Amino acid sequence: MYRIAVIPGDGTGPEVVAEGLKVLAAVAAAKGFTYETTTYDLGGERYLRTGEVLPDSVLAELATHDAIYLGAVGHPQVAPGILEKGLLLRTRFELEQYINLRPVKLFPGVDCPLKDKGPEDIDLVFVRENNEGLYSGIGGVQKKGSPEEVATQLMVNTRSGVDRCIRWAFEYTQRRARTRVNRVSAGDLTAMPEGRVGDVVDFEHRERGRMAATLVETSDEGIRVETAGMLTLVAKTNVLTFAHDLWWRAFNAMGAAEFPTVFRDYAHIDAACMWLVKNPEYFDVLVVSNMFGDIITDLGAMIQGGLGVAAGGNINPNGVSMFEPMGGSAPRYTGKNAINPIAAILAMGMLLDEIGEAEAAHAVEAAVAATTPKMASMGAGRMGYTTTEVGDLVAQAIAS
Ligand code: IPM
Ligand code: MN
Repeated sequence: MYRIAVIPGDGTGPEVVAEGLKVLAAVAAAKGFTYETTTYDLGGERYLRTGEVLPDSVLAELATHDAIYLGAVGHPQVAPGILEKGLLLRTRFELEQYINLRPVKLFPGVDCPLKDKGPEDIDLVFVRENNEGLYSGIGGVQKKGSPEEVATQLMVNTRSGVDRCIRWAFEYTQRRARTRVNRVSAGDLTAMPEGRVGDVVDFEHRERGRMAATLVETSDEGIRVETAGMLTLVAKTNVLTFAHDLWWRAFNAMGAAEFPTVFRDYAHIDAACMWLVKNPEYFDVLVVSNMFGDIITDLGAMIQGGLGVAAGGNINPNGVSMFEPMGGSAPRYTGKNAINPIAAILAMGMLLDEIGEAEAAHAVEAAVAATTPKMASMGAGRMGYTTTEVGDLVAQAIAS
């Protein structure tokens, strides 16, 4: 019996959460597992009513569940930052949900703003560090309001915090095991690897260190190798010469020592934004620090068809994780039965995967893939169906 904490939250949160729970009921019946839910009244309404954002006792209770399912936080009458910091960020930090997992997958029938790109091109995953970096809240202000005002916000990177994020990303890339062929130019190799085409060979990249892969081709220009997965470190080592040098060293040291068969790739954050638009098919898994990850995953949400379909997980691999649709509380659409519940339904799929119901998670994804082609649009109010009807379609696809 799984115990799931549910925080419907603000705006359209309760509407999309209801559809996610509808799909949970359908998949539990189909796969034969049982669960119970506890609903928590948290968010803008409660804050305005009682002044409470997240009482300590409630956070402690949330932590006793197998997972947390969150709708949305954000209220037009509550100043920006109060709910985000007090509820969302506090839960991420105190429950040590140090991974923010953001799959970017274009489902069939979903409009993509990128010309000539389809579902076969857009299927990548961001692993965003979720506890440190510019989100650590360290900094301050002096001479506030004066022309000499100084405001600082520290980007905090600890070796242990970076290592645990990168380790999870390598393991995730290994589990995903997407076959890829990469080129390594002769200039990047310390020596041409020994061995024939088809052999697994060791080679040493001048900057990234040792890797192992199946040799596909050798030529004067270099080698082509096949690996089960590629992990791209997205950072800014040319400017953040302390902070992201730590990421770079941690990434290559761990990769070479523990995950040599995962191809190690690197892109500066600005270049990664360009390539995500131009060649999204290039990417497999990307690991990125907190603030850069916040920004680039919204770009990811757009190329997968918008916030109506973008889901994310805040994961503590050894504790309690929290899953949420990326779209906010959408006050304009609240109560209209018009918001797209697909993102919330996909977040439920991710939750099921995390608690160990991989088959149920696959069933939810497959049911979403069967539903999106029937919808006129992923945009709120333009789906050709109401919120509840889209939930019904997914639930029926699971049952059949
Ligand atoms: C996200 C959100 C949050 C973040 C906000 C609401 C604090 O944008 O989950 O990406 O910045 O992480
Ligand atoms: Mn964000």
